[in-house]
Amino acid sequence: MRALVMSEPSAGSDRTAVRDIDVPRPGPGEVSIDVAHAGINFIDVMARRGDPGYASSWPYVPGLEVSGTVREVGPGVSGVLAGERVAAFTRGGGFAEVAVADAALVVPVPETVPTAVAAAAPLMLATALLLLTDVARVQPGETVLMQAAGGGVGSAVAQLVPVLGGGLRIGTVGRAAKVAAAREQGWDVALVRDADLVAGIRSAAPAGVDVVLDPAGTTLLDVDLDVAAPGARIVLFGNPGGGTPDPLPPLGRLIGGNVALAGFSISRLTATAPARVSGALRRVVELLADKRLDVAITEVATLAAVPEVHQRLAESRGSGKYVVALQ
Ligand SMILES: NC(=O)c1ccc[n+]([C@@H]2O[C@H](COP(=O)([O-])OP(=O)(O)OC[C@H]3O[C@@H](n4cnc5c(N)ncnc54)[C@H](OP(=O)(O)O)[C@@H]3O)[C@@H](O)[C@H]2O)c1
Repeated sequence: MRALVMSEPSAGSDRTAVRDIDVPRPGPGEVSIDVAHAGINFIDVMARRGDPGYASSWPYVPGLEVSGTVREVGPGVSGVLAGERVAAFTRGGGFAEVAVADAALVVPVPETVPTAVAAAAPLMLATALLLLTDVARVQPGETVLMQAAGGGVGSAVAQLVPVLGGGLRIGTVGRAAKVAAAREQGWDVALVRDADLVAGIRSAAPAGVDVVLDPAGTTLLDVDLDVAAPGARIVLFGNPGGGTPDPLPPLGRLIGGNVALAGFSISRLTATAPARVSGALRRVVELLADKRLDVAITEVATLAAVPEVHQRLAESRGSGKYVVALQ
């Protein structure tokens, strides 16, 4: 079968190519899936460049979220049937004609949800939902700020905030050329991360922001703390630059600001509390099926085109969510 293989760590796409590899078989507790679409994520780029903890081994087949049809059910699996239309969180291996997933992280997808959209549910949409609900516990009418908001997770958060009853959505982007796209993705206010950022956020939310979702390591934490309302929840969930993040702020800034600081990793949650991830996945699929949630998807036609998309994400040139068609 065809699969996208990263042969060794690299800062560029020079070590990523489409190859023929053996079709994987499901082990105990697993299923294999004929992949229809696979979601493309910044996390693939972190694996590609060799950030610790992202690629399980080399050569590595990336891809953490897929949609498709269950091909084979492994020993001990109940509740998932061959032939079922599903979305699944995978442990890598998603950019392939056949992928294997833990049965606990596979959910059914109704015919009304296109597979191109369903492929964005396990990682992108489930992350956005868990960030807003489980971690930040967004309340009706609350103001949500997201840093680096123009990518896949950003577009999902922008769409989910009103579904959850949240209020004003403020998103930040790296340069002025991205403001219009961020507004189209749903951000009520889109601000460039320049020297005027804090003033811009304060002008949009004079009482401060209640929830901050920040995937930029600790580089923007000063800004987050400056604009946080009393009782705010700040969630850190990324490290796009790689390397060792700066230390967290002095305790006094958290205590004095009456602010809660949290971390989030959906990959770790799939290992430590899979039911929370599958619960979120079921909920976003339901929201898509009920047409209460919609997300714009850019579909990439072939596996061979994925390395260029990875490079686009690595250089902050992406916009919204990309998925690749496998069938
Ligand atoms: N912890 C978790 O469970 C979890 C789950 C999913 C994603 N994430 C993280 O959430 C972030 C968004 O993921 P995604 O898949 O939606 O990514 P994406 O589509 O590539 O969007 C990432 C955004 O981050 C910004 N960015 C800031 N610094 C960057 C850098 N050094 N390199 C590249 N982009 C940079 C870019 O835009 P501007 O700079 O122009 O704003 C870009 O739009 C990533 O950092 C990812 O690792 C974490």
